[in-house]
Amino acid sequence: MVRRLVIGAAGQLGIELVLQMQAEFGPNSVDISDIRVPDNEAVLRSKFLHLDATDEGALSRILEEGKYDEVYHLAAMLSATGEKKPLAAWDLNMQSLLNILEAAKEGWINRVFWPSSIAVFGPGTPKNKVPQSALLDPTTVYGISKQAGEFWCRYYHEKYGVDVRSVRYPGLIGHRSLPGGGTTDYAVEIYHYAAKDEAYTCFLRADQVLPMMFMDDAVRGTLELMNAPKEKITIRTSYNLGAMSFSPTEIGESIRQHKPQFELNYAPDQRQTIAESWPCSIDDSSAQIDWGWKPQIMLDDMSEIMMKAMAKENETLKS
Ligand code: SER
Repeated sequence: MVRRLVIGAAGQLGIELVLQMQAEFGPNSVDISDIRVPDNEAVLRSKFLHLDATDEGALSRILEEGKYDEVYHLAAMLSATGEKKPLAAWDLNMQSLLNILEAAKEGWINRVFWPSSIAVFGPGTPKNKVPQSALLDPTTVYGISKQAGEFWCRYYHEKYGVDVRSVRYPGLIGHRSLPGGGTTDYAVEIYHYAAKDEAYTCFLRADQVLPMMFMDDAVRGTLELMNAPKEKITIRTSYNLGAMSFSPTEIGESIRQHKPQFELNYAPDQRQTIAESWPCSIDDSSAQIDWGWKPQIMLDDMSEIMMKAMAKENETLKS
């Protein structure tokens, strides 16, 4: 059995990835770790290990004991929170990655997954269909840490043969967990408000188009990348990964197919400046060619799934 460790398992992506691993491979196929206990009972069917990923000693002990084949290192401070605590964001995002890469170099782990982000792009990057090899031009600390991290990953692969794999996620939208501290968080929050028949005030401009992805696609893509034969992986920085692009106005219209009275207002804040530095759409042909990436869920299908899931959750809360 492949032994997996997910670091950052209490986060938006962590919870969803662990749930999928449990469903596909069983709760014992994955151990989970975070600095806080995940707020999700099902996730806790897997063994929980308290870990501050910047603590090299604590990480070594966990890896030594767990004998993991794969580590999914998801712990990070995202774009909006990172701007409030730049040095803390750099420290967490970089130190934790270097700790994992060192452990992999020493042979404690066979394969590493580490996520990058559209935050590596910036004003000097084309806005539409950003090519894989586009200029990286990050304007946030989060983006700078992802850019540097990408090149550290390639360095450890080329120098030491570390099998580290990565994708540049767009904004991720799912109903089983909440995002925290990102610029794309509005696209999750909006469904929670709509489902409760409450008006939502969006912190981005009405016409701000960003690349986005439904969580199930993101999780499937991640596991497909990790299962791909080594020789298929030609990019050791991080793969562009695309699915759909929309603006707050467009997601509002999609939601109104289910909630015709849904009221959407706008009060752009500092996150708007981050959003407008990012591209609108992504060219992910390298991921398609190398390991068969293909997104399945687009905006209206996603709205249907999200609204149904939220309605169910609200019912359970009432009963
Ligand atoms: N969703 C992230 C953020 O908004 C981007 O990777 O920070």
